[in-house]
Amino acid sequence: MPKKFFEVDFPMIVARKIHNIKTKPPLSKPLIETHSTDSLLLDGHSLDSDRYCIIGADLRDIPTLEDKLKKFQINPELPTLFLSECVLVYMSPEQSSRLVHWIAETFPTAMFINYEQVNMNDRFGHIMIENLQRRQCNLAGVDLCQSLDSQKDRFLSSGWESVNALDMMTVYSMLPQEDVARIERLEFLDEKELLQQLLQHYCICWAVKDKLNLGLSQIGF
Ligand SMILES: C[S@@+](CC[C@H](N)C(=O)[O-])C[C@H]1O[C@@H](n2cnc3c(N)ncnc32)[C@H](O)[C@@H]1O
Repeated sequence: MPKKFFEVDFPMIVARKIHNIKTKPPLSKPLIETHSTDSLLLDGHSLDSDRYCIIGADLRDIPTLEDKLKKFQINPELPTLFLSECVLVYMSPEQSSRLVHWIAETFPTAMFINYEQVNMNDRFGHIMIENLQRRQCNLAGVDLCQSLDSQKDRFLSSGWESVNALDMMTVYSMLPQEDVARIERLEFLDEKELLQQLLQHYCICWAVKDKLNLGLSQIGF
């Protein structure tokens, strides 16, 4: 069980998330109930409790991010799991590489799991980019979403010891087939070809650094 969860997003988005936590008892009650001391800290752009902390920060501004994580007493010596789902793709390749490089330098025992687009150089990928641009979503980091190798290179060239990546179609085909059949029945999945194309354009990439020799590089599918 993780000791503590830290979540980071832009200050404006965090303010909305905190508002939702404060106004929805199913979200606020577990925080209050599991909180042992009276140190629950809450302001417009951050919330800190024993097991969950949310911080408003721009992940491209590493000095400020570092200050805020220190203020909320993150312990970089503990084994730490970083998760990002469709976040790095919104930063330029230089910015996301700087971020993952800083993490590799600061957290000696860590795993980073990144889920986002891949194979964006084909026709389907171009249509995805155009659709997102039409909704004012600019994928500044799309150059690192060309292939599994470009996804892996971001970590390999930033101080991570070992890196793996799989496209989600491969992951989907590795799931127990009876579960796949059950999900497809539940979802009334008749557009199988579209699902396959979508899954081919998302990937999971995981990188490790393992100073404590926990065997993190053996974790996989
Ligand atoms: C497509 S959404 C994915 C949702 C995300 N997985 C979550 O759990 O909230 C992308 C998220 O990344 C955040 N984001 C993008 N660029 C960021 C940055 N430079 N700093 C902090 N958050 C950022 C956005 O505000 C948004 O919440």
